[in-house]
Amino acid sequence: MRRIRASALAQPRFKADPYPFYARMRAESPVFEVVVPFIGRGFVVTRYEDVVTVAKDDRFSRDIAPLVRWLPRSARVLLTRQMLSQDPPDHTRLRKLVSQAFTPRRIDLLRDRIQSVCDRLLDAAPRTGPFDLIRGYALPLPLTVIAELLGIAEKDRHRFHVLTQGAGPIGIASGILDVPMALPYAWLIVRYFRRLFAERRAHPGDDLLSALVQAEEAGDRLDEFELLGMAMLLLFAGYETTVHLIGGATLALLEHPQQRARFVSEPGPTASAIEELLRYVSVGEMATPRITREDVTIASVTIPRGEWVIAALGSANHDESVFKDPETLDLARDPNPHLAFGQGRHFCLGASLVRMEAQVALTTLFARFPGLRLDRPAESLRWRRIFPLRGLAELPVNGLS
Ligand code: HEM
Repeated sequence: MRRIRASALAQPRFKADPYPFYARMRAESPVFEVVVPFIGRGFVVTRYEDVVTVAKDDRFSRDIAPLVRWLPRSARVLLTRQMLSQDPPDHTRLRKLVSQAFTPRRIDLLRDRIQSVCDRLLDAAPRTGPFDLIRGYALPLPLTVIAELLGIAEKDRHRFHVLTQGAGPIGIASGILDVPMALPYAWLIVRYFRRLFAERRAHPGDDLLSALVQAEEAGDRLDEFELLGMAMLLLFAGYETTVHLIGGATLALLEHPQQRARFVSEPGPTASAIEELLRYVSVGEMATPRITREDVTIASVTIPRGEWVIAALGSANHDESVFKDPETLDLARDPNPHLAFGQGRHFCLGASLVRMEAQVALTTLFARFPGLRLDRPAESLRWRRIFPLRGLAELPVNGLS
């Protein structure tokens, strides 16, 4: 079985095109070992059907407490006291408390606001010279949306962005220094949220945090740690992923003129176009780790009880046994059973929001700027050095006149 360091899987050069590597793994070593600083050795599963098994099968637990025992308490809380790191019944209870805010109907009410944020950002973009689409569009849009949802004041948003980026590697880092460097950021976020909770208790607003502070479901309140965990999860899960989707989907459309023409000519991009962009870009390259409750055999490899396993969603989304010509962007692909939002009980709670946000952001961008083009060859673009996600550090474009 192959053994690979997480740092190799986080390299910007690897991120630019990880798919030949995953194709080789699916063929030669469909379960491989990965070594992560502080946590040690785990297993990565690459084939579509095995990825579904890891995501859905109850022999895999999301209770990752054994993996984070070594972290200071505040950081542990951020990682473990939230629904993504819980099994039923706690997962069911926590998800129910917040899921009403994310129904397709509730999300549709945000459409006008998202449209006006897109318009404002594009109005402000320079008409001449290169424009970094990540910095000026893909990033501020989801940051504004999640901050407004949570009720984070406008003056605090830039700071929040810096803190979230800094604290990001705390969950699963690729470099030995990543975690010690991330801890102070995590601590500052915790402190900020604690203050915000106290404020919302005293003066509730109509934001999600106020609702959560007051939440009562079958007489069951969120305790302080669960509240903190929930706020952190929504912030982390809800924003960087969307930045990378908008950036990656823009790049994909710029690189495929025929598909772009199709995207622009449709009265409103069909759901299938957004689903294909989600599959093709596969921002969430890896799901979060699961722990085996018993020995489990996958692709002839027996993973012992108590080991951790990661489902490579990006690999599954490019598995040739499920998707014909997986490296082809085909906006009409049907069926498209991609796993970009995971599977099973932890299926992304923000999926409706993401679909709508991406649709508004991309339609607005390409409709307003028919001359939009890359300012540099795609091969020279910088990708972020992150292990579980895949995203551009920059996307310089031109043609906004
Ligand atoms: C492109 C954008 C996004 C992608 C690709 C994405 C992907 C995912 C994936 C793959 C999972 C499951 C992880 C696992 O099983 O290990 C997940 C869970 C989750 N996502 Fe997203 N996500 C995105 C945006 C969002 C947004 C905008 C929000 C909310 C504002 C959000 C909230 C959540 C939550 C709360 C969970 C945990 C659900 C649970 O444990 O029941 N996500 N997401």
